[in-house]
Amino acid sequence: MALPSGFLDELRARTPISALIGRRTKLERAGRQWKACCPFHGEKTPSFYIYDDHYHCFGCGAHGDAISFVMQSEGAGFMEAVERLAGEAGLEVPQLSPALAEAEARRHSLSGVLEAAAASYQRRLFLPEGQRALDYLLGRGLHQETIRRFGLGWAGDQRAALAAELAREGIGAELLEEAGLVRPAGDDGRGGAFFFNRVMFPIRDRRGAVISFGGRILGDGQPKYLNGPETALFSKRRNLYGLDLARAALRERGSNAALVVVEGYMDVIALHQAGFGGAVAPLGTALTEDQLAELWRLSPAPVLCFDGDAAGARASARTAELALPLLAPDRTVKFARLPSGEDPDSLVQRHGTGAFQAVLDGARPLSDALYDLLRERVGDTTPEQRAGLRHQLVAAAGRIPDAALAGEYRSVLLDRFFAARGGRFKARQPGGLGAERAWGGQGTAHGTGREAGRGGAPRPAPSDAASEAERARILLAILLRHPGLLVDVGPALAGMVLAGAPGVVRDALLAWAETAERLDSAGVMDHLTTSGLAAEVARILAATPVPLPGCASVSAMPGEAEAGWWHIFGLMHRDRLDAEIAAAGRDFARQADEASQRRLIALCAARDALAGGEQGEVER
Ligand code: UTP
Ligand code: MN
Repeated sequence: MALPSGFLDELRARTPISALIGRRTKLERAGRQWKACCPFHGEKTPSFYIYDDHYHCFGCGAHGDAISFVMQSEGAGFMEAVERLAGEAGLEVPQLSPALAEAEARRHSLSGVLEAAAASYQRRLFLPEGQRALDYLLGRGLHQETIRRFGLGWAGDQRAALAAELAREGIGAELLEEAGLVRPAGDDGRGGAFFFNRVMFPIRDRRGAVISFGGRILGDGQPKYLNGPETALFSKRRNLYGLDLARAALRERGSNAALVVVEGYMDVIALHQAGFGGAVAPLGTALTEDQLAELWRLSPAPVLCFDGDAAGARASARTAELALPLLAPDRTVKFARLPSGEDPDSLVQRHGTGAFQAVLDGARPLSDALYDLLRERVGDTTPEQRAGLRHQLVAAAGRIPDAALAGEYRSVLLDRFFAARGGRFKARQPGGLGAERAWGGQGTAHGTGREAGRGGAPRPAPSDAASEAERARILLAILLRHPGLLVDVGPALAGMVLAGAPGVVRDALLAWAETAERLDSAGVMDHLTTSGLAAEVARILAATPVPLPGCASVSAMPGEAEAGWWHIFGLMHRDRLDAEIAAAGRDFARQADEASQRRLIALCAARDALAGGEQGEVER
């Protein structure tokens, strides 16, 4: 095939494979993919799946991309298929001039050179000369398996070693220079290996071919990372570290794996090792338009993960600016913020997978993040600032090319603008409530709060009234024993539909928590008794009709009580649990304190328990 490889990539990118196949066989949605009855073998139920850039039949094994589809379905030859698709995509098939053919051949051989170098680096890592580097990587918590999966290596401590080794494989100095592995012996006389005394990170393209390297110094020193120069194969603005593996992970796990953009090589590697297979990173620059396009080929809403500090805020602002004119109904981004002082690597190494999951769960839609970015930039306290902010919000929405989407952004941003005037959206005050109404302001943007939350849409009658009542009893019992939880669960409790006596107790609990100095069990019992609710309290805490679960006992740990509370809440209102988790994730990302972390962990535990099919009550 005498065609520049860039051309075929372009052709594939411009050919929507589902539309192509849809002309031959009827497609049905299957999540983010399509499925159909296989056009290559007779079948009545679909086992032919169409992914973003390829198809696969689980019945007959037919498999390929747009070009092979045309070849297989029409019996066309390769060039014939390419020419037909190019015609439809409005692309001209390049005539391969001798110069182009030579450039193409050179790219092929460059690829071979880089693979050979990667193999050499990797081999050195496991030789005595690589011991320090291997120890360094293991010391950073990487497993042997991860080190091999990412092909990490050691550059060696002799500048001439790589060239000498590859020369034995017939790879000359000129090719090494073109591959970006050797510096031309220049004016400073510092020719020789580009990478030297560094831990090597092969950078691969989306198909997994090595195109360059990043090299990290062992320990401290500058520059910490060195990236290979731009070459015929490598462009740092167009590639993403980890993309090949992320593509595989997303394909395997479908919508369960989130595509996440983080900052560094080590972040990507640590996240993959921790099970976040959709992690990728730009190559030492801010995210570019080409990289966004690459991300959108894989996911309609990649999550961009930024540091919690001022630099992170600036980077999010820059990326929001970049994304706005590129948005479409099926192309957006989400923003997740790390607790300050942590990167994804340090977060999972120190606090575990749950902590990063929490960051992801707290990812906010672009519209939300955009509002905050503009408000921070313009301010919203004086009339002048508010007028300025309003202009900016409208202008930002106006930069979205899709008219319907621009209209939606405009109204979402302005809704929030007007809702904010009431001074709502106050931060939670962990630890004490005082005059701050911790849940009064948690309603929707239009100032509903607790009343509307409760009186909103009529709920369907519980399938089993008795068990609903028992669940409500347990929820209240947990709070009587652990009233400190009211800070975390108050908004959710306020929004529940609770009629009769439980509703009265709930209201009394919330009213008490708003003014009580300390949220302790003795205080709440005292208050309810003097409010004439002693009999109701006794009924709630009784060992009948069934004993209360462990999480409602005085001796339960706070985390256990809270996880139990959310579990039961989830049984009653599965649909609201995700919103609670998202809110908790945002709080945690913002505050990163123990209270918000505990709440989030409890919520995630409850969700996992529910997802794990533990549909029954919590353990007694
Ligand atoms: P960071 O400085 O955040 O490093 O750089 P890190 O990823 O946390 O690295 P460790 O944990 O100390 O090993 C983030 C990314 O910025 C680029 C690299 O791509 C790096 O992964 N970078 C950083 C450079 O290109 N050069 C540098 O000197 C530093
Ligand atoms: Mn780091």
